[in-house]
Amino acid sequence: MNKLFVLNHKMNLLSDEIDNYINILNIYGKNKKIIIAPSNIYLKTFVEKSCFDICTQNGYYKDSGAYTGEVSFKQLKSLGINYAIIGHSERRKNFKETDEIINMKIKSCISNRIIPILCVGETYEERNNREMYLKVAEQLTKDLEGNSPQKIIIAYEPIWSIGTGITPKPEEITAMINYINEILKSIPQIDYNILYGGSVDDNNISDILNIDHVDGVLIGGASLNIDKLKIILNN
Ligand code: PGA
Repeated sequence: MNKLFVLNHKMNLLSDEIDNYINILNIYGKNKKIIIAPSNIYLKTFVEKSCFDICTQNGYYKDSGAYTGEVSFKQLKSLGINYAIIGHSERRKNFKETDEIINMKIKSCISNRIIPILCVGETYEERNNREMYLKVAEQLTKDLEGNSPQKIIIAYEPIWSIGTGITPKPEEITAMINYINEILKSIPQIDYNILYGGSVDDNNISDILNIDHVDGVLIGGASLNIDKLKIILNN
């Protein structure tokens, strides 16, 4: 299978940087499976000009109504958005998103035919206490409860690895991905892929993509650096 590259821009890039970014990535055309998650304000430009699937970094679970400042998955779908990052640790931590909220967001994605990219992962302390499997199992169970996604992407993102330059050992990634596989296999008729995310860059990309059962990567910081990104996408 072609490896999947999800590019999470977070809250970065200015309006006059967008066209250049889109043009450079478009060179990779259909040879690469790339999903780009820019800031909401650029989604329409990306949908119109990029040749890749575009992903929202967030959305609200109600379809419409008096929710000032929010954007619904229904609205995002009407713009041509087919993917959504859900449950990223930065949203869980900084915006107090609970598993209950994440569960409702996933339900809304599914009902609006948006494929969720659900992020799960443990803190440094949880890994030290050997609680990482418990944590990930709890997140998956609560976030997916009552949901019957036909298609979902899970991103295993250890929180201690995001933006730190530190990555788990390959065998630690494999062990967690095998564990996630076991949990997902028990859900009938689900089609899923599992990504690794956390400090993926031009130096470690080939090692990470060679890890057993890693279907692709979720890249934050390095997705903003065109030189690094070119090296990454050549893998
Ligand atoms: P990073 O971010 O690649 O900068 O570590 C990954 C993420 O937050 O998804």
